[in-house]
Amino acid sequence: MDNPIERNFSLKGKTALVTGASSGIGEAIAECYAAAGSRLVICGRRLETVEEAAKRLRETGADVLALAANIANDEDRKKLVAEAMAWSGRIDILVNNAGANPAMGALENLEEKDLDVVLNVNFKGILFLSQEVFRAWMGKNGGNIINISSIGGSRCMHGISGYCAVKAGLNHLGRCMAAEWGKYGIRVNTIAPGIIRTKFSKALWENQQRKENIKQNPIPRFGTIEDTIGTALLLASDASAYITGQNFVVDGGYLISGTL
Ligand SMILES: NC(=O)c1ccc[n+]([C@@H]2O[C@H](COP(=O)([O-])OP(=O)(O)OC[C@H]3O[C@@H](n4cnc5c(N)ncnc54)[C@H](OP(=O)(O)O)[C@@H]3O)[C@@H](O)[C@H]2O)c1
Repeated sequence: MDNPIERNFSLKGKTALVTGASSGIGEAIAECYAAAGSRLVICGRRLETVEEAAKRLRETGADVLALAANIANDEDRKKLVAEAMAWSGRIDILVNNAGANPAMGALENLEEKDLDVVLNVNFKGILFLSQEVFRAWMGKNGGNIINISSIGGSRCMHGISGYCAVKAGLNHLGRCMAAEWGKYGIRVNTIAPGIIRTKFSKALWENQQRKENIKQNPIPRFGTIEDTIGTALLLASDASAYITGQNFVVDGGYLISGTL
């Protein structure tokens, strides 16, 4: 019998490339996509940790290629896409999840070298990796791109303003990609998580003041990686066939009324 859940949410026959999938949000999304039937190509800068993640994913039945790649590096991006294509022959879904924020502090002390890292990973790396995937597969065959931004892209967060400003740029880059590439059958959407408990955001969710403030959130807790996967599956699948260029906030209601 025809099943509307299977028809809309299945990723069978697809291949997803998920960057920064050796831990946190990226690994959770990769696991979810594999459960929905997709093959996976995952990357992180360190081969050892990306292989460990691949082992965990294979234990859940996933078919995974694990590669070391720094998305801020042009040679790595080209090699990543070439190896993914050689392994699978297609890249239907690209999740631009890898992100970086090397320094925290007042905006007046933000150093150029730190902002360069933020820009190179969270903006340029995403644009140029997406271009590679466009050339290798999506420009001819269509596909889905999902950029992982942040609530910091919509609201200032003291101590990480450079990162917030770059994520705001990423939100708009997603709209531009969606507008320009719609004619190629490519949909592009953005997910903006609130504070999700991963090692990346430890300094935020371990902060005493923020622990108090989160109690005022409409959903009064920090997020978990599990909280992000439903939106990621929606946006990668045909369930969102008529949605593109949008920013999906997953923050327990922080942006509409919370204080962090
Ligand atoms: N956690 C939050 O509260 C939160 C909130 C809003 C947005 N986000 C966004 O969510 C995304 C994932 O964050 P997370 O919290 O899941 O972090 P995480 O657990 O620290 O994982 C980050 C992943 O990205 C990889 N990575 C880092 N830099 C990379 C690079 N240049 N090239 C390739 N891979 C790289 C890391 O592996 P290697 O270190 O081996 O490279 C790791 O696999 C980021 O874009 C972040 O900005 C997170």
